[in-house]
Formats: sequence, C-alpha cells, structure tokens
Amino acid sequence: MRGVLRTIAPESRRLLLACLLGACALGAGIGLLATAAWLISRAAQHPHESALALGIVAVQFFGLSKGLARYGQRLVGHDAALRALADLRVRIYRALEPLAPSGLAAFRSGELMARFVDDVDSLQDLLVRVIAPFGVAILVGVGTVALEWAVLPAAGAIVAVALVLAATVVPWTTNRLARRTEAAQAQVRGELSAAVVEAVRAAPELTAYGAMDRKLEEAQAIDARLARIARRGAVTAGIGQGLATLLPALATFGCLLVGVSAVRAGRLDVVFLAVIAIVPLAAFELASPLPAATQTLARVRASLGRVGEALEAEPVVVEPPRPRALPGGPGPHAIRVRGLGCRYGDGGALVLDGVDLDLSTGRRVAVVGRSGAGKSTLARVLLRLAPYQYGSVTLDGIELSELDGDACRQVVGLLSQDAHVFDTTIRANLCLARRDASDEQLREALRATRLLGWVDRLPAGLDTPVGELGERMSGGERQRLAAARVLLADFPVMVLDEPGEHLDTATADAIVADVLDAARTRAVLLITHRLAGLHAADEVIVLDGGRVVQRGTHDELAVRPGAYADMWRREQGLR
Ligand SMILES: Nc1ncnc2c1ncn2[C@@H]1O[C@H](COP(=O)(O)OP(=O)(O)O)[C@@H](O)[C@H]1O
Ligand SMILES: [Mg+2]
Repeated sequence: MRGVLRTIAPESRRLLLACLLGACALGAGIGLLATAAWLISRAAQHPHESALALGIVAVQFFGLSKGLARYGQRLVGHDAALRALADLRVRIYRALEPLAPSGLAAFRSGELMARFVDDVDSLQDLLVRVIAPFGVAILVGVGTVALEWAVLPAAGAIVAVALVLAATVVPWTTNRLARRTEAAQAQVRGELSAAVVEAVRAAPELTAYGAMDRKLEEAQAIDARLARIARRGAVTAGIGQGLATLLPALATFGCLLVGVSAVRAGRLDVVFLAVIAIVPLAAFELASPLPAATQTLARVRASLGRVGEALEAEPVVVEPPRPRALPGGPGPHAIRVRGLGCRYGDGGALVLDGVDLDLSTGRRVAVVGRSGAGKSTLARVLLRLAPYQYGSVTLDGIELSELDGDACRQVVGLLSQDAHVFDTTIRANLCLARRDASDEQLREALRATRLLGWVDRLPAGLDTPVGELGERMSGGERQRLAAARVLLADFPVMVLDEPGEHLDTATADAIVADVLDAARTRAVLLITHRLAGLHAADEVIVLDGGRVVQRGTHDELAVRPGAYADMWRREQGLR
C-alpha cells in the first residue's frame, strides 16, 4: 500500500485543489441556505431595501459559484486520478519487467492479468470516491462548525458532535452490518438453490416414493430462513438510513433550542436564529457519500495491496549501482564462463554447478542434455535474465554482474523455445528486431530461414496478418519467423534455446541448420536435445544435473563411450 501511496504523492497538489473546490461547492450550498435564511428573517423585519442588498448579492454569488466549483472539482479530481493511474501503470510495468521471464510465474495467467488491470484501476476509485469525499467532508465539516461556533458556540458544539457521528459511526456500523447479512444471505441462497435443483432433478424418484412434500417443506424452511435474514438486513439498513436522516434533524432541533434560549437571553440577534437552525441541514450533505466511500475503501485496500506486492517484488537480477560500459566497437566478442554455479532462490539446489564455457565470434558451441539439465538456465544467465552465485561470467572481459542488463542484451540475443509471435503482420513482427529495416533486409532474413518463398506466395506478402499467437501459421513457420527476427536483430552473440522444440524432427533439423549457417559470422550457442546437425558445431558440451559431463566435437563424442554416445545411438535408433 505504501508503494501505491507514493504514486499519489506527485498529484497531491491537484488532489488538494480538487478537495478545496469540492469544499467550495458544498460550502456555497451551505452559504446559499444560510444567507437565504438570514435574508428571509431580515426581510420579515421590514428594513430599508438597502439593508437587504448585500444578502441578495450573496445569494446570487453562492448560487452561481456552487455549480462552477462542482464542475472544477470534477475536472481537477479526475485529471489528478488519471495522471496517478498512468504513473502507477508505468511503475508496475517497470517493476514487473525485470521479473521476466523467470520471476513472473505468479502473475502469468490471463485471469490474474485481468484482475491486475482492475486492481490498478481501483486507484482511481480511491482518489475520486474515497479520498475526495472524506477530504471535502473534513474541510466543510470544520468550516460549518466554525461558522456555527462564531454565531453561537453551543450550536457549534451540537453540530460538531452530530457531524462526527454521521461521518464515522453511521457509515462504519451500517457497512459492518450490511457485510454480515450479505455473507449470511449468500450462504443460505446457495443452500436454497441446491435444494430446489435437487427437487427438480429428482422429481420422478421423489414422487414415486411419496417424498416430494417433505422435500418441498425442506426448501420452504430454507426460504423462510432466507426471508428472515433479508428482513433483518432491511431493518439494519433502515436503521442506518434512519440515523443518517435523524442526525441532521436532531442537530437542527438542538440548534433551534439553544438558539431560542440565546435569543431570549439577548445573546443572539433574532435574524441569526434561522441561520443556525438551517445550516446543519445543508451541512449533512457532506455525510451522504461517506457510507459508499467506506465500502469502496475496503475493496480498494485489498486491490491496492495486491498492486503493492507487485511493486515491491524483488527483481530476480539486481542491476549494479554503477554499471561498467562494454568496450564497444564492431570488433569480435567473447564470452568466458568459469566455474559457474547458480541456483533459484536461497537455499535451493544448484541448477548449474561448475560450468566452463568459451564462446567467441565465429565459434559455434552446442549444449545438449536431457530436460531439466539446466540448459535454459545457462541461456538466462548469459542474457543476464538470471543471477549466478558462484564462478565468473565475462562478456568482452567484463564480469556480467557489473554490466547493465540491457547493455548485455544488446550484444547477446536469444531465440527462445517458444518465441512470442505478435498478433500483427509479418513485417511488424520482424521490425520489432530492427525498427527501420528495409524490405530488402526483411527479405534477406526470411530467405536465411527459408520463409521467403512462403511469404511471397501470400497475397499480401509481408503485410499479411499472422493472427493471435501466430495461429494462421504452422508451428514451423512460426519458429522460422522468430528465427528470422533474431537474425535481423543482428546480435553479435546468439543463444538459440531449442529452436526446434515442438516441431517434427525434419523441420527442427532444417531450422537449426539454417540458423547455424546464417550465423556464421557471429558467436552462437545452440541449446538442443537433438544431436543431428551438431557436426557443424566447434564444440559440444553435455550437461547433466547442472554439471558438464562431457565435452568435445560431435565426431569425438559420438564414438567415445558415455552420455553423448548413448543419446546419439538412441536418436539414430528412433529414425
Ligand atoms: N524460475 C525457476 N524457478 C525455480 N526453479 C527453476 C526455474 N526455472 C527452472 N528451474 C529448475 O531448474 C532446473 C533446470 O531447468 P532448465 O534450465 O529450464 O532446464 P532445461 O532447459 O535443461 O530443460 C529444473 O530442475 C527446473 O525445475
Ligand atoms: Mg529448457
């Protein structure tokens, strides 16, 4: 909640202005009634016309300014709320972005996402429907009490007590009671519908055994219980509303009583008697939105609590306070991994344990291993998407943990297992990698992943929409489009995480071969569990349980007894 409130802080001046304008509107209403009461009382004394002139002007002024102030309040209040909302959205995105991809598991599902959007929106309710009414109530309440006090202190005291009751006890108790009946009603309503549904479904059996009447009596008993609860709820709601109506009446009556005795004692000019009696009636308008505001507050607190959790979520990778710069320049790049050890969370088992790896421009290294061996984790570490606890990983001689994550990711690119294809055209999907790519560059990337022929056969060519999640493409075409995108981005170091995943072996092997071929001038780390085509790699590393169990070229490993030879034989046997 504190994180959320920090979002409101920059808008506090606008919010205050909105509250002031709201107070002016309500205050003008009270002023209107007060001056009107004074005017009528004074007129009853038949004074000279000039004695009433000021009162008449005041009535006109209050009448006009009420509408203007109300308009201003709405304008400024919503403006502040929408600004705060925009700011909160950006901050949430900033907080969530570093969590991706490994820390987002808790927020991934669509239902959660939708709720998250609603949760953020409830900030607007907090500002417009909770803070504003309470702010206005406090300002106007204090003003009204001061006014009454100035005219007659006893009347001020009465109004103060009544207003405090109306603003606190009444909304709080009615809310509590309403919530309790709501909960009780929901349960009994459930029982009733269960009983009715059963009676209908089992009607033939119930009739056959002569048990229908008993069943119906049962349902009637539940219905009677429901009615009793509803009646009780209506009574409490009625009491709440009654109190809300009774309080201003009591305050008016009290003010009238103390006013009359003050007039008798000569402590109050009689023209003010109507004023002190009628002002409380207008002032209680400030209490009318408060029960709803209290209810909204309860809901909004739960929502904003969830938002706060997201804002305060620990980033998976902590960025260095003063990141070092990469040497830059078009020269060759090199990644050096020594004794890499890495785990998820504190105290978990090591997912990578003592991994060594050398990758440099022009070199192609393959990492193989069964599912869960830690291959994707290695990719994440190299892209600075996951932290590492032991050993050293350097990019061009600089330790990765001293680099800004985005700077690292400008050099190292990833083609992930299930790369996202956006619901837009082929061109827009590719231009994500390079905004100003020319048609020729786009076609070149498509040619490299052998997608150009397919695109050229489409009537709309590059401007063909691919549908949500690329549903209008086959799995292979989708994966090839993602590969073309990564090639277009032209990362000097490319990490390909199982680019053939979910594809038939022929397509998978073709994609791997194409990408390896197209990336000849870069450094490539190919993660795969298919071994076909790995003779093109300069080195093959076999991971098992996070450790490197074998390394060498495909030709060496295929004949050396061990995990790789076993995998290779199994793969050959499958064909
Ligand atoms: N975000 C995560 N949080 C906790 N554990 C994870 C996370 N991602 C992967 N793991 C665990 O790390 C191990 C290695 O996973 P991964 O690197 O994805 O393996 P591979 O890509 O080789 O199949 C697995 O045991 C997996 O359960
Ligand atoms: Mg994986």
